[in-house]
Amino acid sequence: MRTQVGIIGAGPAGLLLSHLLHLRGISSVVLEQRSRDYVERRVRAGVLEQGTVDTLVEAGVGERLLREGLPHHGIELRYGGAGHRVAFEKLVPGRSITVYGQQEVVKDLIAARLAAGGDVRFEVEDVALHSLEPGLDSGPYLTFGGERLDCDVIAGCDGFHGVSRPAIPEGVLSVYERDYPFAWLGILARVAPSSEELIYTRTERGFALHSMRSPTVSRFYLQVPADTKAEYWPDERIWAELKARLESVPGFTLTTGEIMEKGVTPMRAFVAEPMQYGRLYLAGDAAHIVPPTGAKGLNLAVADVRVLTEALAAYFADGSTELLDGYSAACLKRVWRAQHFSWWMTTLLHTFEDDDPYGRRLQLSYLDYVTSSEAAATTLAENYVGLP
Ligand code: APR
Ligand code: PHB
Repeated sequence: MRTQVGIIGAGPAGLLLSHLLHLRGISSVVLEQRSRDYVERRVRAGVLEQGTVDTLVEAGVGERLLREGLPHHGIELRYGGAGHRVAFEKLVPGRSITVYGQQEVVKDLIAARLAAGGDVRFEVEDVALHSLEPGLDSGPYLTFGGERLDCDVIAGCDGFHGVSRPAIPEGVLSVYERDYPFAWLGILARVAPSSEELIYTRTERGFALHSMRSPTVSRFYLQVPADTKAEYWPDERIWAELKARLESVPGFTLTTGEIMEKGVTPMRAFVAEPMQYGRLYLAGDAAHIVPPTGAKGLNLAVADVRVLTEALAAYFADGSTELLDGYSAACLKRVWRAQHFSWWMTTLLHTFEDDDPYGRRLQLSYLDYVTSSEAAATTLAENYVGLP
């Protein structure tokens, strides 16, 4: 078998890349180790930057997103017994975010790929990458389940635990990482949101986030110890802790309901540079991850494949490699901005075990600054809605 771009992974990065390439007349095959059902059900984050929405709409996969997605024009920062709104409409006029679950984006992309006759293969076993070294006469190829797929280029979109990044020889990549000493417990609940906008809460008990998916489904996160397990968190304990953290302003009551899904997400930051080796290009979580506090993971994946699509379109049009050669540097600029923003939001809102009273005062002072200075609030707002 032969294709122009062999894509490993059917997450948002791999599926969107395949679709954008198709719109440019470039062929691809997507190889995914999990089942279609599994990837469509996997609950992840759900905040889309304006640029992400624009990309999906322009690519013709935004119809349900525009219908069912929830446009948000601000968020609340809650701490010290009061809530403070960060008003996007005032701070970054004309820019907003849309709340729409990542697995809904994945469903829409799979439907679009299959409707267009795209080649997306699920439950593919033992994907391996070959002949990646730069300067070889023959192109790279992929093997899987006894088959061979020859490609001009390989796109590693297989997430943080995939096989693409480890296929790059030792010594090529520089890795930058940070593990946080806590995790997030996330739940999906069949209950109307208790707030119209997202609430990011800092309390002495730890961080909590109130998010949502629809008028009848809410999403919540709790800062929890890094070594916790979802089993340690029966429903009653989760609601009690969410109430203790979120009902920290007068007059706010959290409505509880049936918990449909529960999971623990480690808090980790990671960047591998460059995002390329020979004719292998990494995109999305395969190259970088951020702690979820800034809601940047999915948006970075979309930004990567947007850049990669332009570079590949130029390459297949006339063989020019200029954009491909600049792919990594172009993506890493945005990646590092998001790394800093995610670290900053995380540091601002979580409790750290080794924090002394001085550190806590600094945190509160910065929160006061962000919620009282238009300059500081604009910094948060423009990063949150996404830089151009
Ligand atoms: N072979 C084939 N597929 C693989 C392999 C493999 N060896 N390893 C992993 N995969 C698949 C995974 O099953 C998954 O479906 O690659 C896909 C990677 O998808 P994501 O993890 O969703 O990564 P990405 O598309 O980069 O999207 C980034 O996902 O983790 C979130 O917060 C992150 O929102 C961000 C987004
Ligand atoms: C979510 O709704 O899943 C969500 C929202 C905001 C975040 C992270 C996750 O910062």
